[in-house]
Amino acid sequence: MELTKILQEEHRVIEVVLTCLGNISKEAESTGKLNEESALLAIDVIRTFADKCHHGKEENILFATLIEKGMPKEGGPVGQMLFEHDQGRAFVKGMSDNVSGAAKGDSEALQEFIRNAHGYIHLLRDHIQKEDGILYPMAENFLSEEDQKRLMKAFENVESDQMGKGTHEKYIGIVLSLAEKYGVDASHISTHSSGCNH
Ligand SMILES: [Fe+2]
Ligand SMILES: [Fe+2]
Repeated sequence: MELTKILQEEHRVIEVVLTCLGNISKEAESTGKLNEESALLAIDVIRTFADKCHHGKEENILFATLIEKGMPKEGGPVGQMLFEHDQGRAFVKGMSDNVSGAAKGDSEALQEFIRNAHGYIHLLRDHIQKEDGILYPMAENFLSEEDQKRLMKAFENVESDQMGKGTHEKYIGIVLSLAEKYGVDASHISTHSSGCNH
């Protein structure tokens, strides 16, 4: 279904950012200093593209509808995904709080940044696998054609009203530039928006 295809395409973009973040951490570990500009860009992509836009679509639209239609909010797969989004936010805060110290070469801040980056990368990779492999197929079976059409429309509104026109493309551009800088293959990323601004 088109609805989960949009979210899966966004996962492919997020995975590229995760690999870049891993390389940013490796670079910081070997040089003893964090590249502040790259780290801030990666955090911005994670906060805006991954959390506000992608997790926003999941939490406020897809998961909300699944709960409305009878899936349990707590204890089930939706509850687990919501819990993991929150865990992710704590790791992002841990990274963000330590960027400036780590960029100055403060070893404690550097270790904290790296620890939170590793935690986030591990969490999100595992989270994405669960959504692609379990939750999205479950949602496909659970939602009617009519529900899916309604949700597609709601996704479009997130892009045009909440995120703003051109935001998706702007962040894809940042991801591609980080990928180029850190030698990460991003050839599978569509530069055309799938869910945003359509
Ligand atoms: Fe998610
Ligand atoms: Fe997701």
